[in-house]
Amino acid sequence: MNKTVLAAIIVVIAMLGFTYVAVGSAGGMGGEGDWVNKLAVLGAVVLVIVTTFVVTKYVRQMQNDTASGKLADENWDGIGEYKNELPLGWAVIFLGSVIWAIWYFLAGYPVNAYSQIGEYNEEVAAHDAKFEAQFANMDDATLNAMGESIFIVQCAPCHGLQADGMAGKAADLHVRLAEKSVKVAIVNGSNNNLLGTSMPMPDRNGLMNANTNALITDAEIDAVSAYVAGGLKGTAGADVFAGTCAACHGADGKGMEMVAPNIAEMSPAMVDMVLKHGKKGAIGAMPAFTNLTEVQFKALDAYVSSLSKK
Ligand code: HEC
Ligand code: HEC
Repeated sequence: MNKTVLAAIIVVIAMLGFTYVAVGSAGGMGGEGDWVNKLAVLGAVVLVIVTTFVVTKYVRQMQNDTASGKLADENWDGIGEYKNELPLGWAVIFLGSVIWAIWYFLAGYPVNAYSQIGEYNEEVAAHDAKFEAQFANMDDATLNAMGESIFIVQCAPCHGLQADGMAGKAADLHVRLAEKSVKVAIVNGSNNNLLGTSMPMPDRNGLMNANTNALITDAEIDAVSAYVAGGLKGTAGADVFAGTCAACHGADGKGMEMVAPNIAEMSPAMVDMVLKHGKKGAIGAMPAFTNLTEVQFKALDAYVSSLSKK
């Protein structure tokens, strides 16, 4: 007898044996059990036998079959290829999908035809344009009112309804900078695109005090941080500021275009930069806002920069 068939018979006997042990008398093999169980076991037996012999058939076919047809002229290391006919069904499906694709792009759903997304985008653009035109020339009161209402929705979750930063969760917007924020900027430098592009401020190893002709010291950092956070008033720290910071930030701390930002007061331009680029600092990370229109930015800039002046 063929070895494969012998192996198949052994497998069947083994599997039926396992089934018997597993199901036992509950399966009705011992004469107990109802006809549902008996049928189930019968099904299992049939499945085992049929599966094993179908597999055996294909294994034998693989063992015995020899390919037929015309061999192609080329061969690769002695391995050749038969020139078999394309299966008809495959060819029909292939051609069918090509024709369907052409139809789909040109007639069925043309790329430039109506689409709901397209209509939606047009409507949004039209609405935005109308909105921009309507609020193009706002007086200060309207601008601030719009800024406040956007603030309550977009900003209050972090900055609080009072814009006080909710005990350190975000920046207190009534002051330009907290002392620890100034300190962190001096010690680590700052790279928050506050001038619109990446124009970093050097860290403490790049900050020379022109008065002492030496790198800024710990004591000087403490003094100048308090001075800046206090609104650049008084005399303590003023000399350090004049010697180290004024060259970039200006004698009054109001900054210079493309050199350094205004650190004396919250200007609309400064707020605008923070809104568009986000900010990472001593307190945490503020996300950049990309989903507001220019009018809305302008309103927020005006409202937020007015907070510290009240
Ligand atoms: C070489 C020029 C330069 C010098 C000197 C300099 N700064 Fe700056 N500073 C910058 C620039 C540029 C930025 C903006 C960096 C950015 O985009 O984040 C900046 C940012 C800052 C900020 C962050 C502002 C904010 O809103 O977060 C603080 C605070 C600051 N500087 C304080 C100081 C102090 C205090 C000194 C002196 C001890 C000083 N800087 C010296 C160029 C300078
Ligand atoms: C997910 C929380 C979060 C949201 C929302 C948020 N902020 Fe902030 N914001 C922060 C944090 C945190 C800081 C402080 C970053 C730092 O310097 O460490 C900050 C800082 C700022 C600053 C800089 C203050 C300074 O002195 O340099 C401004 C201005 C500001 N936010 C305005 C806004 C406005 C306006 C909105 C709404 C459009 C807003 N923020 C929404 C968390 C948030």
